[in-house]
Amino acid sequence: TSSSSSSSSSSAAAHVLIICFPGQGHVTPMLSLAKLLSFSGVFTTFVNTESIHRRLSSSSDLTDRRRLRFRTVPDPLTGGVDEELGFSSKFINLQESMRSCSTEPYKKLLLTEELTGEWPPVTCVIADGILFYAIEVAGEVGIPTLVFRTSSLSSSWAYASLRTFMDQGIIPFPEKCDMDEIVKGVEGMEGILRRRDLPGFMKMVKSTEDNYIKIINGINSLLINGKALIFNSFDALDPTLLPIMSSYYPPIFTIGPLHLLTKFFNISNEKEQEQEKEPGKNSCSSSLRQEDHACMTWLDNQPDKSVVYVTFGTVAVMSLEQFTEFWHGLVNSGHRFLWAMREDMVKGKEEMEVTEELEEGTKERGCMVEWVPQEEVLAHRAVGCFLTHSGWNSTLEGMVAGVPMICFPYFSDQMVNSRFVSEVWRIGLDMKDTCDRNTVERMVREAMEGESALELRNSAARMADLARKSVEKNGTSCANFERLVSYIKSTAL
Ligand code: UDX
Repeated sequence: TSSSSSSSSSSAAAHVLIICFPGQGHVTPMLSLAKLLSFSGVFTTFVNTESIHRRLSSSSDLTDRRRLRFRTVPDPLTGGVDEELGFSSKFINLQESMRSCSTEPYKKLLLTEELTGEWPPVTCVIADGILFYAIEVAGEVGIPTLVFRTSSLSSSWAYASLRTFMDQGIIPFPEKCDMDEIVKGVEGMEGILRRRDLPGFMKMVKSTEDNYIKIINGINSLLINGKALIFNSFDALDPTLLPIMSSYYPPIFTIGPLHLLTKFFNISNEKEQEQEKEPGKNSCSSSLRQEDHACMTWLDNQPDKSVVYVTFGTVAVMSLEQFTEFWHGLVNSGHRFLWAMREDMVKGKEEMEVTEELEEGTKERGCMVEWVPQEEVLAHRAVGCFLTHSGWNSTLEGMVAGVPMICFPYFSDQMVNSRFVSEVWRIGLDMKDTCDRNTVERMVREAMEGESALELRNSAARMADLARKSVEKNGTSCANFERLVSYIKSTAL
């Protein structure tokens, strides 16, 4: 496209180093951005931990291209973490471990001690918004840093309201409180969030000294530390919030949905070949797990919009009880379902007694696999709705495909995302906190049958259209991306 071809020569001196938190939900959008920048003429070094690099390289070609190269920092040594520790302590330990083992190798990459060929020194860093050491070290070394937040604007903004909530006595939650009470004081989001919709880490806060408070404050402060803030989102999603947030933060670049922007920029095989990809490997897919492609054949054999696609992302773990209820609810709904279930997703799954009713219903109408090519699945004509944990990547992928969602969020930003899906964007149903079989069945029917389904489908189709427009020429995300490229190129001057 115009921007990839016209700008290559003028940008020879700009070199961005992108460093990413080790997790699928972070690797996917940041790798998309790395590809987009390199195709737009910016020398791009993508940095991840050794183990993530190994997992990626089993399906992708990670050899150096002309303007895209992959480098690693050591894996955090989280050994010795007491299993009894809560998530907040584990998160803090992980951050400390990354700081102690990765700072020096990362500094070496920043100071480009191993540059070859025409690669210029690093002129700018894009760091994951939850990677504390990466943002701090780049600042110390004096390299301009842009902060990439992989979750939604609304959830980041809700986190930013921690002080207000604490002053109002909303956080920590009093022992007995009404979870459906609307919380006040979030500028731009009045009347939207109930207590139960607050970001997961906020709901976990037990006292004013809590670790979660330290984590939230830390992440909030990182957002104002960089030269600019990047979100995998598009302007039409948050027309009220965006101007408000822009008045508090460094310049915000909304450049999503990134997986759609990469399509618009046509990062095609032809382009990849130009960059000499290793034969037999993907250009560079971001999947950290082996995808089951047989499920696509199963989908091919199902009628249009007849299948509920179910998955709860890369981290969430459900109890045996929840799993049992979901499964019964799905079978009882009478609809077909494709369930992508990580091997480690259900605690104690082997103890489950599978009833005949479940077995029969699943044999007749279900397909259960470990990991699917999700974008492809969502785009398949047979998929009628998406039962999701509301991770931000999944939410965007569902929007782009125009598929209504049923949301069962687990933690962090997912609580806010699911509320926005149902109450603000009206493209799905929020099942938050309740997953007994009757509720699951009712929600599936509501999303798949009659007037309610039609309404959801229509608004999901409108949302898909807005997403598409945002990445097209003159669309907001496309224009913002080009501004971002110009900014990055200016760091070389
Ligand atoms: C969490 C947070 O909720 C998210 O907002 C944050 O930014 C990253 O961490 P996660 O559980 O990783 O999310 O979910 P999500 O952000 O939805 O990402 C999951 C990714 O895995 C999606 O891109 C999805 O396409 C992919 N996936 C999932 C598959 O490719 N196949 C599957 O079978 C399941």
